Amino acid sequence: MKEVRIGIIGTGVMGTDHARKFAGGIPGARLTALQDFDAARAASLAQELNATALAEADALIAHPEVDAVLICSPDATHAALGLKAIAAGKPVLIEKPPAAERREAEAILRAEMAAGRRLVQVGYMRRFDPGYAEMRRVLASGEVGAPLFLHCQHRNATSASYLTSELIIANSAGHEFDAARFLLGEEIATATVISPPTPQKAPGRQPQFIVLQSVSGTVVDIEVFTDARYGYDVRAELVGEEGTVALRPGPPTTLRQAARDGTVVPQDWRPRFNDAYRLQFERWVASILTGDRNEGSGAWDGYMTMLVTDACLKAWRSGQRVEVEQPERPAFYR
Ligand code: NAI
Repeated sequence: MKEVRIGIIGTGVMGTDHARKFAGGIPGARLTALQDFDAARAASLAQELNATALAEADALIAHPEVDAVLICSPDATHAALGLKAIAAGKPVLIEKPPAAERREAEAILRAEMAAGRRLVQVGYMRRFDPGYAEMRRVLASGEVGAPLFLHCQHRNATSASYLTSELIIANSAGHEFDAARFLLGEEIATATVISPPTPQKAPGRQPQFIVLQSVSGTVVDIEVFTDARYGYDVRAELVGEEGTVALRPGPPTTLRQAARDGTVVPQDWRPRFNDAYRLQFERWVASILTGDRNEGSGAWDGYMTMLVTDACLKAWRSGQRVEVEQPERPAFYR
């Protein structure tokens, strides 16, 4: 294969952004097909980007001019569509989370193992963010010594009305769970969740404070506050026995003007992680062309992240510390 022809299912916020990246030039890739439940939305984007709009997701997956599928429809549709792409033998990048529930994530593992080759990547794109990649490199190099704490903050300016306290754990926090597994290079053993009062301007959803402990004992604390008003802000600091390594917050410049000294905080995640999304796609396409693996989240990572999610939901409901299930990793995923 010399070129990977990409079909995208779901042309909402993420699907549109991703489609524009492919149309703007991801080396070795060409955007060929788009599909959305809302046919007019897919048709108008297809016209803008010179792609074909298809009426059904099944038709997109089966289309002879689609070599690989990117799923950007809502969470509840991810697993069923992912399974169809696997059945068609086509590489598939599933936006996070890989499934709405654990049984579906297990079905993806089973299907991929039955297919006999790695076809699934999950859109936990922080693995491709230069900041997270550098944190991981520094930890692995031994420069900061053995890890003790990982402090994470995930704040959005505002969030969609459908986001509940539960979805803050089941959807938003997944990025942090995957990043913790990626940075530390090990599984998460236990989960505890503490919730502050519901903010007046965000009725119906509590921010969440999650404390995880890795198998070897590193403590990971995660604040997820999706209605922080001031902007989108993601932070992480890894504290080791010999030093710390952290993401540098904000842009590299500061603006002094009108009696203020500061920086502009983006209002959503797209500018902050623009490079991470682009690199995720570049390496996904390169992996398809070469057959080499990349550092992205695979079906196993997606499954383990869902087990952490499950433990956090149990911990939140019960107020107890909950153990994360530790299934044996199949040889296929080693
Ligand atoms: P959205 O609501 O803006 O877009 C979803 C689109 O899917 C809509 O256009 C809708 O009409 C379409 N759709 C619904 N059911 C469909 C079906 N059965 N087949 C085809 N199309 C269907 O949602 P958004 O924000 O774009 O999120 C999409 C996915 O991306 C979610 O799973 C979300 O968790 C994930 N996401 C990932 C982020 C990341 O940083 N990696 C950030 C934000 C969202």
